[in-house]
Amino acid sequence: MPRLTFIASQGTPRTVDARSGDSAMQTALAHGIDGITAECGGAMACATCHVYVADEWTDRVGPSGEMEADMLEFAACEVTPTSRLSCQIKMTEALDGLVLYLPEAQV
Ligand code: FES
Repeated sequence: MPRLTFIASQGTPRTVDARSGDSAMQTALAHGIDGITAECGGAMACATCHVYVADEWTDRVGPSGEMEADMLEFAACEVTPTSRLSCQIKMTEALDGLVLYLPEAQV
């Protein structure tokens, strides 16, 4: 079971277990992580599940796709090269230990 750490914008980390196959967004909602709104439920239509992938994980997580990048333009906070929509990050054992930073706001 991969473990996933969310770090809130004020720096508070929280590590949770993820089910393989779930998205990082689904994992956040299942554990009541503040800072992930996910208004569209994972349909890539809202950008309220924006996260920043920790630098050391960007290669393994990979870049956003074209449609995801287009949707990220609607994110409430600054978009950086490590920005992803957490509904598009599928948890696998290869991502055990993944660290995601949460933006200050999602809307
Ligand atoms: S939950 Fe809406 S884009 Fe990810």
